[in-house]
Amino acid sequence: MFYYYGRKKQIAKHYPSPNFDRIIEPFAGSAAYSLYGEKWKKEVILIERDERVSGIWEWLINEATPSKIKNLPDLSIGEKSSEFLHIIHAATKMAFHYKTIKVTPVLARNWEISKRYMSENIYKVKHWKIINGDYTLAPELEATWFIDPPYKEDAGRGYRYGSKLIDYKKLAEWAKERRGEVIFCEGHCGDYLPFTPLLELKGVAGKTNKEVIYYQSERSNKQLELLQLSF
Ligand SMILES: C[S@@+](CC[C@H](N)C(=O)[O-])C[C@H]1O[C@@H](n2cnc3c(N)ncnc32)[C@H](O)[C@@H]1O
Repeated sequence: MFYYYGRKKQIAKHYPSPNFDRIIEPFAGSAAYSLYGEKWKKEVILIERDERVSGIWEWLINEATPSKIKNLPDLSIGEKSSEFLHIIHAATKMAFHYKTIKVTPVLARNWEISKRYMSENIYKVKHWKIINGDYTLAPELEATWFIDPPYKEDAGRGYRYGSKLIDYKKLAEWAKERRGEVIFCEGHCGDYLPFTPLLELKGVAGKTNKEVIYYQSERSNKQLELLQLSF
């Protein structure tokens, strides 16, 4: 919905489509998966530990209107801002650690694009729910679980609540216990679940970023059990 380091906006189309009427994103960020295509129409529940990020969602869900968003001031290059919603548009993971930022051309442009996108799409999230806190606070419901934590090692270190604070073994066990289906995202250091390659993204200076995925479906397990019982 807004510019966010590590968001899945460009690659949302590569993940499996949801098979359930409810989507839960326990590591919400800007929730690009739930917003992609027609998915937003489902019941969507977001959980986010960074209260500045969940605060943006609370505002978007409960207060924002297209005109309120359009009336947010534009940013001029060189001015300073202490607004977290502006700071995350700086296209750097360091943004999470800045209290104030000097507006760069990139930030001003990203903010302009986000403002337009948010005002045009705000109606899509009015029925969504946001919970501020740890992923374990997610309701124990049958759903399509889109699990996109800060990636293990370097890539996930930038966030205020980054990879160093996550017990990945515990997270893997928790994910396996979810009812419904699980779509779990990781990068090249993901080694705590049987991940398989999803795609490689071109990064800067000829580097590539590997995206991997773990998929689990209770439905297909159940179908398999029924099939085995019928023989
Ligand atoms: C990779 S980002 C999610 C990106 C998101 N899928 C998107 O498209 O924008 C991971 C998010 O998890 C949040 N987070 C980190 N630790 C968490 C925890 N223990 N519980 C819930 N959220 C957490 C971070 O603040 C960050 O916003």
